[in-house]
Amino acid sequence: MAAAKVIEEYKPIPGGSIYSIRIDPLKLMQDAAKKYGDLCCIKRGKFRLYIANDPAIVKELLLTKHMNFSKGSPKTKKIVGDGILTSSGDFHHKQKRLMQPAFHQQQLASYATIMTDFAGRVTNEWKDGQELDVRDQMMRLTMGIVAKCLYSADVESDWKEVAKALYDVNEYLDMLSSPFAGVLDRLPLPVNRRFRRALQELDAVIYKIIEQRRNSTADSGDLLSTLLKAQYEEGGGMTNKQLRDETMSLFLAGHETTANVLTWALYLLSQNPSVEEKLLRELARVLPGRRIPTAEDVPKLSYTTKVFTETLRLYPPIWRSGRIAINDYFVRGYLIPAGSLILFSHYMIQRDPRYYDNPEQFNPDRWTPEMEANLPDFAFFPFGGGPRSCIGEPFAKMESIMLIAAIAQNWKMTHDPNHKAEIRTSLTLRPKYGMMMKLSKR
Ligand code: HEM
Repeated sequence: MAAAKVIEEYKPIPGGSIYSIRIDPLKLMQDAAKKYGDLCCIKRGKFRLYIANDPAIVKELLLTKHMNFSKGSPKTKKIVGDGILTSSGDFHHKQKRLMQPAFHQQQLASYATIMTDFAGRVTNEWKDGQELDVRDQMMRLTMGIVAKCLYSADVESDWKEVAKALYDVNEYLDMLSSPFAGVLDRLPLPVNRRFRRALQELDAVIYKIIEQRRNSTADSGDLLSTLLKAQYEEGGGMTNKQLRDETMSLFLAGHETTANVLTWALYLLSQNPSVEEKLLRELARVLPGRRIPTAEDVPKLSYTTKVFTETLRLYPPIWRSGRIAINDYFVRGYLIPAGSLILFSHYMIQRDPRYYDNPEQFNPDRWTPEMEANLPDFAFFPFGGGPRSCIGEPFAKMESIMLIAAIAQNWKMTHDPNHKAEIRTSLTLRPKYGMMMKLSKR
């Protein structure tokens, strides 16, 4: 059996190598795919890192051969413990089954008003002609929404301390995606101290809420109460520690991803006036008199949905993922030895001209039923796939479509050209310099 092509000795020192998976992972992956095709390998001593740029391989990793791969030990374990984001095997499967009903359509519809109320609260503070960082605003908005839907908590008033703690956790996570995370994590830096304190504060608040709920007969209708009621097949429910880990997983996974996609959507609309016009025509038709969207409106907002889908294609918040081979894995006539890490990029595959015409162009109209039917499996997979796919997908879709509608019908945004809209490939795909926009009230 042939070994996959070895493209470069891995050199972790900046300047010691043109490429480094830590310094500029996207560039490394793009250049490797350009030069070596859909599967190649970087080796360092015994360690092998593979880069796969083929939807058919991704399908095997995530779906058809998923049993042969693990997610490894994710960086978020320190924060979410043994929650759904990081757990594995039978335990993960059991937890996901238990949690899934909390994301069913009927349950989600009850969160629609929370979503638009928050959008109203945040945008009511905006002023005509004001310039602000829309990414910050979207973080504030999605954090507020997920806190309310999960715990019925208000990060904007009584939960201000929690919002601050979450910012500190996010700052720490951001540091973990730096090239020197391993070393930085062990140093007595303020970011590490703030993170430890923030985690203690979050834990104290979350455990207190869980205790209060256990001692109360009232149903607050939030995600936590759904999880508290959930029963395993063999009987019994989750422990407090497990409830803490699961809700923390949802908290963490459920705000920055959506904040980023909303930011990129508003940016893309500002750059594409004809798309914006078409969107406004749909909003005027479905939501006459700038009515606030409801969950029932979402299926009718078909063009808004295309705007969201096309944004996810160009700017997938989770821009790359990876799996570790548990046993030797044979693919395309190559052997990938057990223990190897295989990386693949949603961003790259979703911009590949083999699957998309004019892939760099923002064109929501490309999403026709015919086009979708002809798209290979896993050529569009912003929410992953298989048993580890995103549990929050229906939540994120409803939230994003309603918020794009609610914001765009009232506000026109003009991007400040002095702030480049470049991407930053940290754990999520963020705008490198924030997203400064001038707001005009419609
Ligand atoms: C546009 C927004 C979002 C995007 C693009 C997104 C994307 C993803 C992707 C790609 C994965 C799979 C990662 C992998 O295969 O390694 C994932 C997993 C996950 N997401 Fe999301 N997500 C979004 C929003 C949300 C929301 C709103 C929640 C919760 C409220 C959420 C909760 C989770 C959880 C818990 C997992 C882990 C699932 C598991 O391992 O079984 N996500 N997400």
